[in-house]
Amino acid sequence: MPGCSRPALPSLGCLANAVALSPSLRSAVTAGPGAGGSTRSPGSTVGPSAGRSSPEAAALGLGSGQSATRVQAGMDGAPPPASPAGLSAYVAVSQLLGLTLLATTGAWLGRYRGGVAWHSPLQFNVHPLCMVLGMVFLQGDALLVYRVFRHEAKRSTKALHALLHGLALLIALIGIVAVFESHRTKSIPNMYSLHSWCGMAAFVLYLLQWLLGCGFFLLPRAPFSLRSRYKPQHVFFGIALFALSIAACLLGITEMLLFNIRDSYSHFVPEGVLANTLGVLLVAFGLVVAYVLTRDDWKRPPLAEEMALSMDFKTLTEGESPGGGGQ
Ligand code: HEM
Ligand code: HEM
Repeated sequence: MPGCSRPALPSLGCLANAVALSPSLRSAVTAGPGAGGSTRSPGSTVGPSAGRSSPEAAALGLGSGQSATRVQAGMDGAPPPASPAGLSAYVAVSQLLGLTLLATTGAWLGRYRGGVAWHSPLQFNVHPLCMVLGMVFLQGDALLVYRVFRHEAKRSTKALHALLHGLALLIALIGIVAVFESHRTKSIPNMYSLHSWCGMAAFVLYLLQWLLGCGFFLLPRAPFSLRSRYKPQHVFFGIALFALSIAACLLGITEMLLFNIRDSYSHFVPEGVLANTLGVLLVAFGLVVAYVLTRDDWKRPPLAEEMALSMDFKTLTEGESPGGGGQ
C-alpha cells in the first residue's frame, strides 16, 4: 500500500487502506472464515500460496494457479509495480561483485596454489573455495531473495530463501570437512587459530539459524505470535552472521598468506595483491548486500491478500498457526 511500511503485522491503518481500495477484498476480510467459499477451521492451512487459490484470490475472481502478483495487480487492473530503480542497480552490482570474488578465489588457487583436488595434497584448497562460495556468495544471495522477488507469493520466496541457505550450508560443510581431513593427513593440530574459532562459530551458528528458521517459518504449526516475536531476532542474527562469515574469510586469507608467502608478502608480490583484492571484494560484496537489506523503502511490500489474511488471523485466531500466511 502506498505510504505503508512493512511491519511484522500490518497496521490497522494500512489494512484499512487495502480494504478501502477493494470492495471484493473488503467482503473477503469482513465475512471472516467461510467467506469466498472457504471453510476454514482454526489451525488449518489457508495461507496465500503459489498455485493455490486463497479465499481473497477467489473473491477477486482469480482461480487456482494464478500468482499472488496477479492478485496485487488485479486490485485496479494496473500492472504490478516495478521494483525501485535503485534496488535493481544495487542488486546487479552485488551479483557482479559476487561473481568477481568467486573468479578471484579460483584464480588465486589455480594460478598460485596448484588448483583444487580432493584426494591429494591440494585438498586444503577446497576449503577457501567452498567457504567463499557457500558462506559468502550463496548466503548473500539468499538474503537478497526477499528484495529481488518482492512481488512473488511469500511462501515461494520463503522456500527459495531456505533452499539457498541450505545449499550454502552444504557447500560450507564440504569446505569444513576438507580442512579437517587435510589437517589430519598432514598431522596439523586443529582449532588453534583465531580464524578457526571465528569460522567454526560462524558455521555452527549459521546451522542453528537455519534450523530455527525452518522451525519457526516453515513448520505450519508454529504459532503466529511466536513467529512475530522471533522474526526481528532472525533478521538481526542473520545479518550479523553474514558479517561474521566475511570477517572469518578475511582472517583466513591473511593466515593463508602468512603461511605461504611470509617472506615476500611485504614486497607487493602478485599473489599477495590478488589475495588482498579478494579481501576487498568480500568487504564490498558485504556492504552492498547490507545496504540493500537495510533500506527501509526497499523492503518487500505485503501483498493485498497477505494483509487481509493477517487481519483475519489476528482478529479471529490470535495465537493460532497461520499456515504459511504473512510471516
Ligand atoms: C566463513 C568462512 C570460513 C570458515 C567458516 C572457516 C572455518 C575454518 C575452520 C573451522 C578451520 C579449522 C580447521 C581445523 O582446525 O582443522 C579453518 C582452517 C583454516 N582456514 Fe578457514 N574458514 C573460512 C574461510 C576461509 C578462507 C576464505 C580461507 C583462505 C582464503 C581460509 C583459510 C584457512 C586456513 C589457512 C586454515 C588452516 C589454519 C587454521 O586452522 O586456522 N578459511 N577454517
Ligand atoms: C542460516 C540461515 C538463515 C539466515 C542467515 C537468514 C537470514 C535472514 C535475514 C537477514 C532476513 C532479513 C531479510 C530481509 O529483510 O529481506 C531473513 C528474513 C526471513 N527469513 Fe531467514 N535466514 C535463514 C534461514 C531461514 C529459513 C530456513 C527460513 C524458513 C523459511 C527463513 C525465513 C525467513 C523469513 C520468513 C524472513 C522474513 C522475511 C520478511 O518478512 O521480510 N530464514 N532471514
